[in-house]
Amino acid sequence: MKAVTYQGLKKVKVKNVEDPTIKKEDDILIRVGVTSICGSDLHLYHGLIPSTDKDTIIGHEAIGYVEEIGPNVERVKKGDKVIIPYTVACGHCYYCENQLESQCNESNEEGEIGAAYGCSRLLGDYDGSQAELLRVPYANFSPFVIPEDCELEDEVLLLLTDALPVANWAIEHSGVKPGDTVIVLGSGPVGLLTQKLAWLKGAERVIAVDPVDYRLAHAKKTNKVETFNFEKDKYLPDTLKEITKGGADVVIDCVGMSGKIKGVEVIETVLRLQGAAMGAVTTAIETVKKGGVIQLIGIYGTRYNAFPLGDIFMRNVTLKTGLAPVVHQLPTLYKMLKDEKLNPKDIISHKLPLDQAEYAYDIFNKRDDNCLKIILKP
Ligand SMILES: NC(=O)c1ccc[n+]([C@@H]2O[C@H](COP(=O)([O-])OP(=O)(O)OC[C@H]3O[C@@H](n4cnc5c(N)ncnc54)[C@H](O)[C@@H]3O)[C@@H](O)[C@H]2O)c1
Ligand SMILES: [Zn+2]
Ligand SMILES: [Zn+2]
Repeated sequence: MKAVTYQGLKKVKVKNVEDPTIKKEDDILIRVGVTSICGSDLHLYHGLIPSTDKDTIIGHEAIGYVEEIGPNVERVKKGDKVIIPYTVACGHCYYCENQLESQCNESNEEGEIGAAYGCSRLLGDYDGSQAELLRVPYANFSPFVIPEDCELEDEVLLLLTDALPVANWAIEHSGVKPGDTVIVLGSGPVGLLTQKLAWLKGAERVIAVDPVDYRLAHAKKTNKVETFNFEKDKYLPDTLKEITKGGADVVIDCVGMSGKIKGVEVIETVLRLQGAAMGAVTTAIETVKKGGVIQLIGIYGTRYNAFPLGDIFMRNVTLKTGLAPVVHQLPTLYKMLKDEKLNPKDIISHKLPLDQAEYAYDIFNKRDDNCLKIILKP
C-alpha cells in the first residue's frame, strides 16, 4: 500500500510499504477514506520527537471503511464506515474507564503514557493513518460507527478524530464558563475550533493571538474574535492585560512546539535542555488574571529551562495540560455537528491526493497558500 513516511528533518515521502495485517483478535483493518495533517505531525517533521525512526508511517487522523475484522470483534462489521480517534486505547483499564483514554495503561508497551497512531515509539510505535490501510487495535472500544443516515461530509467527520474533541476538551477541562474572557493562543486548526467552542460555552469575550496574518484574518472573519499579532505588537501582554482589566479568566495555548522559536531556544533544544519554544506559555502566564486558568493543549516537550514556576504560583494560577481524550466525547460532538450547533467546515483549506503529501507538509509547515487544515485522500 501507499503511505506517508518520515525520512528525517522536514522530509516525508509517499512510499510503497507492506500492507498491515490483523495481529490480535480484537484488531480491525480499515481502508482509509480520508486522512489529514495535524499540528502534532509537524513536531515529528521538525525532528522534535527523537524517537521517530526513519520510515515510520505518520498521521493519526482517519475515517474509513472496515475491511477486515479479527475473530473477537463485535462492535463493528465489515463495510462499516468508522471514525478512528487518534488515541489507541484499550477500553478496560482504569484510565479508559474514567474518561482519560489518552492515558490508557495498556496500549503503550514502550512507556508510561498513552498511545496514538503514527506518533513514534514515544506513543506506542503504532503505524500511522496517512496510508491506504490502517490497523486499528481494541476495535471493541474506540471506533465510532457513522450511522448510515449521516449526511455530514467526510472532511467534517474527520475533524472528530482529533482537532474537534481536542478543542472541546480544552474548553471543558479549563472550565470556561458563561461570561468569561478567553484568550486563545494560536489560530491554527485547533485554535480556530477552540474559539468557536468558547463562544458556544458562553464566553463574553474571545481574543485570538498568532503571528500569521491570514490566520488571524480567518479567525476574525469566521469566528468574530478580537485578533492580535504578537510580532507586530511588542507590548502585547501589557495590551491584553489592560483591555481585559487584569488578564483573562482562561488562556488556552493551542501552540505548543509549533511556537516561534528564539535562537537561544534552538541551542537549548539541540542540547535537550529545552523541548522547543516556550513563547506561548510565557504569553499565557503574562496574560492570565490572578487566580485564572492556563490550559496547555498545544503539545510540549519534556524539559524547559528557566520555567517561570513562581510567576504561576505567586498569582494563584492553575496550570492544566495534557493529551485530550477522544472516545467518550464522540457521541456528544457528533450530535452537535448533526444538529448544526457547530459548523467547523471553514477550517478546511486544502483537499489533496495522498500522493501530494510532500507538498502538503511543505505548505502546512511554511503557512503558504493560506493553509489551515489539509485533507489527504488515498
Ligand atoms: N493535546 C492534544 O491532545 C493535542 C491534539 C492535537 C493537537 N495538539 C497540538 O495543538 C497545537 C496546535 O495544532 P494545530 O493543528 O492547530 O497546529 P498549527 O501548527 O497549525 O497551529 C499553531 C499556531 O500557533 C501559531 N503560533 C506560533 N507561535 C505562537 C505564539 N508564540 N503565540 C501564539 N501563536 C503562535 C502558529 O502561527 C500557528 O498558527 C499543536 O501543538 C498540536 O501538537 C494537541
Ligand atoms: Zn493531532
Ligand atoms: Zn486503557
